Parts: sequence; C-alpha cells; structure tokens
Amino acid sequence: MNKYFSFALGVASIGLVACQQAPTQKCCNDKMSDADIEARIDTILPQLSIEEKAAMCHAQSKFSTPGVARLGIPELWWSDGPHGVRAEINWNDWGYASWNNDSCTAFPALSALAATFNPDLAYIYGVALGEESRYRKKNVILGPGVNIYRTPLNGRNFEYMGEDPFLASTLVVPYIHGVQSTGTATSVKHYALNNQEEDRMGVNVQVSERALRELYLPAFKAAIVDGKAWTIMGSYNRYNNQHCCHNEILLMDILKKEWGFDGVVVSDWGGAHDTKEAARFGLDVEMGSFTNGLDAQMGNFGWDDYNLARPYINAIKKGELPESDLNDKARRILRLNFRTNNNWGPGRMTCEAHMKTAHDIAREAVTLLKNEGNILPLDPAKQMKIVVIGENATRTLVKAGGSSELKPKYEIAPLDGIKKQFPNADIQYATGYTSGPAFYGFAPAPKEDQKKLKAEAVELAKSADVVIYVGGLNKNYQQDCEGGDRQSYELPFGQDALIDAIAEVNKNIVVVLASGNAYSMPWLDKVNAVVQSWYLGSEAGNVIAEVLDGTINPSGKLPFSFPVKLADSAPHSFNDPMVYPGVDHQQIYKEDILVGYRWHDTKGIKPLFPFGFGLSYTTFDVKDIKVSNSANEIKVAANIANTGAVCGAEVLQVYVGKVDSKVSRAQKELKGFLKIMVDKGNSAAINISVPVESLKFFNEETHSWELEKGKYMVYVGTSSADILETVEIEL
Ligand code: BGC
Repeated sequence: MNKYFSFALGVASIGLVACQQAPTQKCCNDKMSDADIEARIDTILPQLSIEEKAAMCHAQSKFSTPGVARLGIPELWWSDGPHGVRAEINWNDWGYASWNNDSCTAFPALSALAATFNPDLAYIYGVALGEESRYRKKNVILGPGVNIYRTPLNGRNFEYMGEDPFLASTLVVPYIHGVQSTGTATSVKHYALNNQEEDRMGVNVQVSERALRELYLPAFKAAIVDGKAWTIMGSYNRYNNQHCCHNEILLMDILKKEWGFDGVVVSDWGGAHDTKEAARFGLDVEMGSFTNGLDAQMGNFGWDDYNLARPYINAIKKGELPESDLNDKARRILRLNFRTNNNWGPGRMTCEAHMKTAHDIAREAVTLLKNEGNILPLDPAKQMKIVVIGENATRTLVKAGGSSELKPKYEIAPLDGIKKQFPNADIQYATGYTSGPAFYGFAPAPKEDQKKLKAEAVELAKSADVVIYVGGLNKNYQQDCEGGDRQSYELPFGQDALIDAIAEVNKNIVVVLASGNAYSMPWLDKVNAVVQSWYLGSEAGNVIAEVLDGTINPSGKLPFSFPVKLADSAPHSFNDPMVYPGVDHQQIYKEDILVGYRWHDTKGIKPLFPFGFGLSYTTFDVKDIKVSNSANEIKVAANIANTGAVCGAEVLQVYVGKVDSKVSRAQKELKGFLKIMVDKGNSAAINISVPVESLKFFNEETHSWELEKGKYMVYVGTSSADILETVEIEL
C-alpha cells in the first residue's frame, strides 16, 4: 500500500470505510501514539518540496491552511473561539458566508467562567466546545484567552480570565484538556502582553522581567506545560521592540526552549510583519496578513505574498535563510494535523447536553454584589408589578464584540426569562436608554431620544412593586469589544443618571448588569441589590431569572477587583499616558507586579468590591481553620457549615504573603482555593494544599525563581478583603 494512503488512513475519522479497504492496518478506532506520529512525519517530511512545506505555513483562505493534496494530507481549518464556534466566514474576505447549518451553542464568556472559580466547569466547557468544533470540522479553536486583566478599560477583558495568574492557570488547564479530549486543538491567546486594545498592533510593552514572569506568563505556561495546548497564538503588540508573532525571547527562548512547546505558533490575524523574523523567531503559521492583494480583494488575493509564502521560498532558495527552520515548522504543522485528524468522533452540536453545559456554567457564574434587606430572591408566587428597565433586557449580547461574536441557535433575553419565571407578576418594560446598533463606529442616539426613553422609564417605575434594571456594558465598539478600549469607567449611555432618576421614584430596585469589566457605581447606596451577570451566552435570560426568583443560589466570585474610581486601579493611578495607553507606540508598566488586588492591598486602596467577592442567599460559618506546613507544602484545613435556609456554595481562598521580604512584594497573592457546595444545615471539611514551590519570586539578577526562607503570612478568607484567619508560618 502507498504509504501516504496509510497516512490518510491514520488520520481519517471515517475509519469504517478505511478499515474495509485496508484490514491489515491498525484498527480504525485506535489512535496513533506520539511515537507513531513522529515516525510518520519522518517518512513524509523528506518527500515534501520547499513549496509544499511553505504552503502549509500560511493561510489559503481567511480561516484555513492547505495540506498537501497529492499526498492526501488534509487542510487545517481554524475557527474563533473562544465562547463557541463562530459562523463560517467567506474564503477571501471577512464577510459571513451565510450558511444555514452553522448556528452554535453560545457558552458563557471566559470572564464568566472565571467567576465560577470551578475547574470542573472549565473541563465540561472544553468538552462541549470541542465537540461543537468537531461537528463543524474545525481542527483548531482559537482560544482560550488568558491575558491578565490590567486595566478596566481593556475592550477584551470579557474574553479573558481575570486579574490573577493562579486563578487563570487553574481554569485554563482543564478547559484545554476538555477541548483537546475531543481531538480539537486549542490556541491559547494572545501571547503575550496584549492587555489593551488601544494601539494593539503597534504598542511596545516595557515590563520588568519579574512582572512578565510572575503575572503575565504563568497562565500561558500552565496552558503549555500542564494543559499541553497544541497551538498558541502570538499577539499583535510588541515586546522588546519586536512583534510578538515573531519574538525571539517569547517564542524561541521561553516558549519553545524553556517550556518545550512542540506545537504550532500561529500569528494573530495580520500579526506577522517580516519574513526573516517570522522564519527565525518561532512563527509556524501566518494568518490574516494584510498583503496588498488581500487589501484590494482582487487578483490572487495575496495568499502567495504572505511573509511565509513566496518571499520565504525565495530567501531559502537564495541561501539567505536555512531550510532547517522550515522543516521544523512543517514538522510541527504535520504533528498538529495528525493530532487533530486521529480517528476522533464526529462531534455534535447544539444538542441538549451542550445547552445544559452552557446553562450549568452560567448558573455558577452570576455574582451577587449587594442584597440589602434580602430583597432577593423575589417570590414568584406573589402577585406584584415588576417593571423591567434597561436595554440589555431585550438585546442580544452574543452577536457582537469582535472576533468572539457568535451566531447562536438561540439566546434567551433577560426579559423573556423573567416573564417565564414570574408567571404571576404583572411585568412591564421600558428600555430607558439606547446604545445604538452593535457595529464599529456607531453614532450615539440623539439626546432627545434618550430623554424621552428615560422619562418613560421613570414614569413606569413609579407604580412598580419592584424595578429590575437590566443594563451594563454591551458589546458595542468601545464597550466590551475587540478593536477599541472603553473611553471611561462609568456605565455608558447615561445609565448612572437613569438609575439615579429611578431611585428617586422607587425604593425597591434590583440592578442586573452585564459586563466583562468593572465600572463605577455612584448610585450603589440608592439601590437594594446588584447582580453582576457577565455575558452568559445562550441561556442568559433563563439563568438571570432563576437567580432573581431563587431557583439558583448565586455562587459566583469576582475574578477581578472593582475599584471605586479609575484612578484607584494600578495603571491609571499614575495618570501618565506612558503607563496607559502608551505614547508613540511605547508603554511602561510602572505598576510592575502590583495589578488588581495586589495593588489595592499593598497600597491600602479600598476597592468598591474586592477580588474573590460574591454573596449568597445562604450564610456560611467557616470554623476550625488550621494552617500547618512542611518544607514542601502548606496545608489549610477548615470546616464550613451552611447556617442559612438554602443549599449554597462558597469559595474558600488561601492567600500567602512574605513578611520582611528582601524584594518588593504584594501584601498577599492567591495560592489556593476550593469551591464547595453545602446543603442547608450541613457542614463539610475543606482541605487546601499550597506547594511551597509556588511562593517563589522571580529574581531578575539571576533570571531564576527563588524561594526566600523565613516568615510568611497565610490568609484564609472568602475574598481578598474578607479574611477570616491570618496565620504566620516559618519556612
Ligand atoms: C483577534 C483574534 C482572532 C482573530 C481571528 C484577531 O483580530 O485578535 O483573537 O482569533 O482575529 O478572527
């Protein structure tokens, strides 16, 4: 048998036919081992011409790369990510292809997943997403994103997992395991330091090696070393004055050498800029480059003009660049091909099981920030007048936001969920404000309209037993949206004034706000309850209503701090454009290692709501907290009792800080947590283990991780500010 047919056999998922044709081959249900894969690559690689190898290193369409047709090596198909499988895009441009079989399950945004503090949910998220990707014949899903939340203005924070590297690392690994257990590759993004959208293509981030290692790289490292992600996406911005898609330090020294990454580095779409650098500094697959042909949408569409296409082939043929780098790239790409085409199942899409997964994750994400007088949950048996106000009550929040936008099979709007969940109530609705359509560069609605909408809403609110305000950010440009940062920390579209006006006429106000970012709440004292509802995907409206009527007891915790005002957040406290957003494409991270709660704690700046915070409809009593340690491990044990009237979940958090450190340190850092569900009247034992290894700091002089001996403080609590016990230990 032709050995290339056997390649195709090994990778075909339509294995039954192949089995009948070649009964002597390994059973079609067997997966090739890593050793098999390498052996196959050894056989194939010498057969490939320079042109064939280079072809695999760059796009042939917006979202695919070629295989080798004559040898039966399949194409690779890539798709956004990371909250569902994006609808099909045209071959040659960014338009949607208008297929009618590409609606997906919309899972909650990754910031919502982070709020669950539940790695088991990250795993089932990954499995369901991987299955949808397989059904849609995608080899690679572009996600998860793990850029650290540095500023509340970043338009893409909703796609990331918060401000803490330990939290993001703990969640990213099971997400990757879940996706890749289905045979779909993940592409961890955006590596690295893509912490804002402002000047995202140009900005050169100057950050200390220590902050890079301690804050911005750990989640990527976890994704590669523990998660074993099969691909990673380079970011648009620059580090060390070199674009991150071909960056010697990030891709060669750290990723490939230090972390031993054996997968594929893909550029962000249009993130590659130079043939020589791309060839030498670690880029394997170039996507979305803005070549002239492509810009003009004509001729050969520029696919051959990519940095890793004709210019690369010519340079190798002239002896200017070695073929060995190309061989390494081709090997990695073939490896990805075998990994993702290895007799995996066909997957499935928009099935009940996936909708349930989306629902389950959303249920644990919703975060209750305030509940004065226990106004929540509202009694669904009661006959009352509920006035729902706010544009997000009826607006789709899935079909916008940039590349993560989805075409969901359905998305339940909050108003529909509330109507279903409160059948006895008289429910009336007013939008209260308008934000305009969700596309780039929209013009705000005329002031007169806003005035009229506000007046109507306030009038309606007067007669309500309770007002449920459903607003927040949305995914319009310069809100939670790719390509631009927020322009201010306040809620947009006049919502602060609207909430104030409602509070003047009604004393029972429940505020439900969607966002993937923090915002100021000048009206906080005037409302009874605040529910942070994130972007919850297909099941959003059902889940919000289930929280409001108590079907669900909220258990989400904030994966980032809510500063009182923008100037309280680390990068903005300097009031220096060099720190944010940068000047002349240069930016300095002056806050260094103190981001988020690390900044608030260390500088003594009280946040509005701290990292790790979230209320419940029940009460917990955490007792018998015991901290002990050996040379390798800190052990925290406690007992938690549910002393309230309903079942609920609490997240016990362990932070550690060094006393009298020889280097500057954050007061404390999250090193362990456990989410535990306890039934009313019951109690449970909690054990959390912190490896001493994780207390190391990065020494910039020796360029290595170092453990300081001496006294450490262990803080055990239910948020970074609600500390129940502080214990000093000696290492
Ligand atoms: C985004 C990536 C995305 C890619 C493909 C880029 O603009 O930054 O996150 O995966 O486009 O849509």
